This record gives sequence, C-alpha cells and structure tokens, in this order.
Amino acid sequence: MKHTSHPTSQTSDWYEHAFDLARGIAAYTQSPLIEGVAKVIAKHPEAHIANAFNHKQVACKVWARDTLLSVAGSSYARIAILGGWYGILGAMLLEDARFNVAAVDSFDIDPDVETVARTLNYAFPEKFRAVTADMYAIDYTTLGADLVINTSCEHIADLRSWLDRIPAGTRVLLQSNDYFSEPTHINCVASVEEFTKQAALSTIEFAGALPTKRYTRFMLIGTV
Ligand SMILES: C[S@@+](CC[C@H](N)C(=O)[O-])C[C@H]1O[C@@H](n2cnc3c(N)ncnc32)[C@H](O)[C@@H]1O
Repeated sequence: MKHTSHPTSQTSDWYEHAFDLARGIAAYTQSPLIEGVAKVIAKHPEAHIANAFNHKQVACKVWARDTLLSVAGSSYARIAILGGWYGILGAMLLEDARFNVAAVDSFDIDPDVETVARTLNYAFPEKFRAVTADMYAIDYTTLGADLVINTSCEHIADLRSWLDRIPAGTRVLLQSNDYFSEPTHINCVASVEEFTKQAALSTIEFAGALPTKRYTRFMLIGTV
C-alpha cells in the first residue's frame, strides 16, 4: 500500500490527539504494541495505522492468535509473516505472555512499511525483523521458520504457487476473505470450502469463518 497523504495544518491536531490517546492507553494497558502505535503516529504520520489497527483488523488477528494457541500451541522458534504490513500481528504474538516466540520475521513487498513495522515493534529489537521482500522470492528452506503466516492471501495472485515454495510439512496459518469490492483484493474466495480447495494443504488442523459487517474472513491452519 503506497503512502501518498501527508498531514496538513488542518490534520496536525488530529495527530496530536491520536498520539496523546494512544500514549494514555499504552500507559493504562502497559502494552508495548499500543506504545508502538503511539510511536508510529508520531514518527510516521503518512502510515495508514488507523486502517491497519481498526477494530475489524484487530478482531481478525485476535482470532488468528487465539486459534493458533489452541490448535498448535504456544512455542515457536521462528515465525515468518508474509505480507506483514506494519507488523501488528508480529507485535501481538511477541507481547502475548501466553506465547514463547523466539523470533518473528515480517516480510512485505512494499518498501514504505519496513521502518513503520520496526517502529511498531520497537520493544522487541532482538526478536523482530522487518524485511522488504517479495514472498515469492524468499528461500524458505534457508529461513527455517516453524510457522509461516499469511493473512494477506487475498492480495496475492497465485496462492498455491507461493505455498509450493515452502518446505513440505511446515505449519502455516492462512487468512483470506470475500471482500471482492476492495480494488487491492485480487484473489478473494467466496467460502472456506473454496479457500480450502485453493490452498490444497496436506493436513488441516483448523478451517473456519469469521463474519464481520462487510465481509467474512476465512482461516486455515495446517501443513503444506
Ligand atoms: C493490506 S495489507 C494486509 C491485509 C491483510 N488482510 C492483513 O490485515 O493482514 C496486504 C499487504 O500484502 C503485501 N503484499 C502484497 N503482495 C506481496 C508479495 N508478493 N510479497 C510480500 N508482500 C506482499 C502488501 O504490500 C500489503 O502490505
């Protein structure tokens, strides 16, 4: 996603209020992720953080995190997140005391999001890595992730040819949706059955749907 808008004097008040509010919520909740959101508002006013952290996006990622915990457990040596955008899911996993995650690599093809993701994850400098890369061009064998997450499947043209690049037996968590009217969604699916068929995983540990007001999100957890 390209960032073209810049704050004007008319919007600078909004940024100040948003920054103050985020810092207040961070102080109240003691959440490094919310403190990271405040830092993003201050350092990267061009980033679409309000869109990435809106209540529907958060609900879908809480669904991913909590289902992952119950289906596949809490311990991961390296989690790779593809299409990781501003690194919100990475921060959610790293700050959650129920999980034991040694490293999160967040890859995105958009060079504008790398520094924003790093700012958002400022609290995890040893564990969090943001990298600009095309998910089709990554050497997944060398990467050695024990969990590969892609909650942006609706944004990539050929899901199966991407999955073919990941070593057989690797656990994956995938999300897509039926939000066909959004122009950047080039590969939506109409149902969890269609998503299951498209991904053609070797094993499936979870397949489900989460309805929201405008669209339904689908999720699969299993192995390639
Ligand atoms: C709008 S965002 C995330 C949407 C998703 N529903 C979510 O919340 O996780 C989609 C991201 O996928 C990234 N992306 C699209 N194609 C990619 C590719 N081939 N490799 C890596 N990242 C890609 C975009 O740059 C963008 O940041």
